[in-house]
Amino acid sequence: MRAALAGLIAALLAAAAVAAPVRFDEAETRRILRHGPWPPAVPADPSNRVAENPAAIELGRRLFFDKRLSADGTVACATCHAPALAWTDGKPRAATYQPLHRNTPTVLNAGLGRWFGWDGGADSLWAQSIRPILSPQEMGGSAAQTARRVAGDPALTCLARASFGAPAESDEAALVRAAKAIAAFVATMVSPRTPFDAFRDALAEGDAKAMARYPQAAQRGLKLFVGKGCPDCHFGPAFTNGEFHDVGVPHMPAPGMVDFGRHGGLKILAADRFNRLGPWSDDAEGEAAALTRRVRATHTDFGRFKVPSLREAARTAPYMHDGRYASLRDAVRHYSELDMNRLHVHGEQLLRPLRLKGSEIDDLVAFLESLSAPKLPEFAPARYSACP
Ligand code: HEC
Ligand code: HEC
Repeated sequence: MRAALAGLIAALLAAAAVAAPVRFDEAETRRILRHGPWPPAVPADPSNRVAENPAAIELGRRLFFDKRLSADGTVACATCHAPALAWTDGKPRAATYQPLHRNTPTVLNAGLGRWFGWDGGADSLWAQSIRPILSPQEMGGSAAQTARRVAGDPALTCLARASFGAPAESDEAALVRAAKAIAAFVATMVSPRTPFDAFRDALAEGDAKAMARYPQAAQRGLKLFVGKGCPDCHFGPAFTNGEFHDVGVPHMPAPGMVDFGRHGGLKILAADRFNRLGPWSDDAEGEAAALTRRVRATHTDFGRFKVPSLREAARTAPYMHDGRYASLRDAVRHYSELDMNRLHVHGEQLLRPLRLKGSEIDDLVAFLESLSAPKLPEFAPARYSACP
């Protein structure tokens, strides 16, 4: 009887503890507020003079879905970045003509970043857009084919003229123009507001009633998120500091093969004639270009990958640069069980296995799920009516 009563009291206490509203102290509140407000303004890209041109955005939208830029007319950007899959392909690793060893990231919020690709091998959205067109593994296209595609279609030609004026003087110029238009379109794809954003703004205003609408599990998960150091890397409104880290995800995609991550990306960037310092940049002397000139690979860059945004992550499975985790739960468990031997010798000093309880993993997942909007828009830009 006594034992049963004690058991009952313990159960009641546990229930009360679960139901108790989550409280955030001053330091936690400050950290949470830094993840907003949302949506942010997309930073200007001075290397792309048509970055905000409505005709270029419409041209870019059409080219993004255009399979005729590919070797055999079967692959478009949207084949791997499919709208129905939150602009990913849902596969662990991308594969069109030949399998790649990396996962396809979403292009949502890509325009907020400074470096592109898991290794930061491109320093602009337009340079990143040229890579898959020319890659024999991905689209297998060419500058000449891209030029012909635009010149051979009256609507595309009209949009290109409205965006750039006189016709392109070479195939390579036509390729760069196509990529800059695609980049202008991709930069419009900022993900919508989420339950987390409503909570964050309510917290900023001290609106307890609005705060209470945010599920308790997500609140507990948020408290863990800011308490366990996640924002050291998943920082700011987009939940990424835009930089590169090693969190102990193995980087040997196949036996005997190494993915050097950021170290390899910096070499690709330096050798890329389409980088911000090159002849095709509209701002090769500018401040953003200066950053490309300054970055240097060091040995700590081995095995570092770009910190992905966590917005809409519930829609972008599988996870990590090699798509090894099928669920957010598995990705969170990675930090719980972290294998310190896997971290590169010069790896992160910040990371320790978190040894989370099952209920804490549930809460972190509930929080991560609250970073998705109920529905994604189609991102069809307002009709540009001066062309067919
Ligand atoms: C074969 C599938 C595939 C195709 C086709 C493809 N991509 Fe990607 N995309 C990827 C993969 C994989 C990555 C990661 C690349 C890396 O890390 O090296 C990526 C990365 C990106 C990124 C960087 C995102 C970020 O946050 O760093 C952008 C932007 C992008 N692609 C846009 C495009 C555009 C525009 C096209 C069409 C011109 C395109 N992609 C075609 C698979 C594809
Ligand atoms: C030291 C920097 C750092 C810290 C701290 C960190 N992350 Fe990450 N996170 C990364 C990097 C880098 C990746 C990509 C790693 C890769 O693919 O090799 C990543 C990937 C992820 C992903 C997969 C996203 C995707 O689209 O593939 C999730 C989810 C995630 N982190 C959640 C968390 C949570 C939750 C915490 C806190 C417990 C956390 N991270 C702490 C840097 C960090």
